[in-house]
Amino acid sequence: MCEEVINKERIQKAEQITACLVLNDEKLMEIKSRMHHEFEKGLRDEQHAIIKMLITYVRDLPTGKEIGNYLALDLGGTHFRVLLVNLNGEKASMVSKTYAVPVDIMTGHGSKLFAHIADCLYDFIEKEKIYQKRIALGFTFSFACHQYGLTASKLVRWSKGFDCAGVQGEDVCRLLREAIYEKHSRAETFIDVVAIINDSTGTLISCAHTNKDCYAALIVGTGCNACYMEKLENVEKWTGNYTEPKQVIINTELGAFGEQNGLDFIETEWDKILDKKSINPGKQIFEKMLSGMYLGEIARLVLKTICEQKLIFNGNLPLILRRPNEFKTKHVSLIDGAEDNESLQRTMKDIFSDINFDKTDMQIIRMVTSRVSTRGAYLIACGCSTILEKMKRNFCVIGYDGTVLRSHPKFKDIMSKKIEELTDKNYKFELMKSEDGSGKGAALVAAVTYREKRPVIIKRGRKVYELTTFRNNR
Ligand code: BGC
Repeated sequence: MCEEVINKERIQKAEQITACLVLNDEKLMEIKSRMHHEFEKGLRDEQHAIIKMLITYVRDLPTGKEIGNYLALDLGGTHFRVLLVNLNGEKASMVSKTYAVPVDIMTGHGSKLFAHIADCLYDFIEKEKIYQKRIALGFTFSFACHQYGLTASKLVRWSKGFDCAGVQGEDVCRLLREAIYEKHSRAETFIDVVAIINDSTGTLISCAHTNKDCYAALIVGTGCNACYMEKLENVEKWTGNYTEPKQVIINTELGAFGEQNGLDFIETEWDKILDKKSINPGKQIFEKMLSGMYLGEIARLVLKTICEQKLIFNGNLPLILRRPNEFKTKHVSLIDGAEDNESLQRTMKDIFSDINFDKTDMQIIRMVTSRVSTRGAYLIACGCSTILEKMKRNFCVIGYDGTVLRSHPKFKDIMSKKIEELTDKNYKFELMKSEDGSGKGAALVAAVTYREKRPVIIKRGRKVYELTTFRNNR
């Protein structure tokens, strides 16, 4: 099957066609400078800013002395999870259950989504026998939200394939509480929703729990995002009080970067096609260039173009490249990760099982997947470098999570090297893998806010509950 001689001409042509995916440092510095400008805009006033720089109201980091049992919900990627987290000083243990979110719920009415969440929550409560208790719950809701406090959070926009009607502009915490209270539970457990956070915030908090130098976090999974601890004096739009600690975690929502042509100087035809066919055209342009929901599809579009030019597969498109979203980011990872020609050949036989290919095909396909993932790693490196220079800390640990950073064999290392090359040498950094940031982070925020608890008594029929609300630092 494999012809021996490599066809250099075909390779060169494929390289020329995909040259637009290669970003040199000059372009990356330009991206950084535009991003920095957008950061400043967002910190002043998010109304018209593309990168919203959302205030999270999380100002305290965990001390490592948090104790107790907390419920956590994690919604935002391909799965929905319910967790019971036990905090015991620096140790955290948890049990969890993952539930599917069917596509008709992801794109149906919001009431159905929240009813589904409440059903799963009660299923878990009964499975874990959490009976007749009052328990605090932290909700990791990984979408852009405008927060007014720790439990007041309006959805700015959906992303990552979610598009539920009736939720945008609404208070997500209220929707969750209503759905929870509407459902009947044999367990008669009173669930006190005490905090809503983004997954990037959860990652920062969970890493900061064990590493005191962690002040930033990064997600490259289904979607992408980053957050960091900002000084209040730099947050012009801050209208809350200036008590200690004079800092707040900013959820950048940098995945939106590039909207309104901010990245048009690097956007390719393939990016434009992908965006046009997506559920949210014109939105989350940066995210669409690098996150797990899209890397496979970009690679597929590139390979399709190259195949149409008869540079691979003799011009015959294999099945997996024919339909959108069939070629996944995990396929990019497998090809990028193959260690030698034999394993590359085996991998490609598995992926392109219905077609013959030769060594030149193999080389071109690998060049394409590698260019697509390297571009993604370089782009997110620009985000990290901008944050490091914004924080101006001599040393900062950046917590990270997300399937691309965890599972792609090279993405994290390529990104890390590029951050180093792009960043002022005074600002050193280290990357730290988060251990279940979304679950542990939500539980920790719930625990940290518990310190400020202010109980309110409410009556429901003949029952009286003590409901905990929190001062939200405003
Ligand atoms: C969302 C962010 C989230 C990121 C990673 C993006 O689509 O807007 O809020 O943090 O995905 O999950």
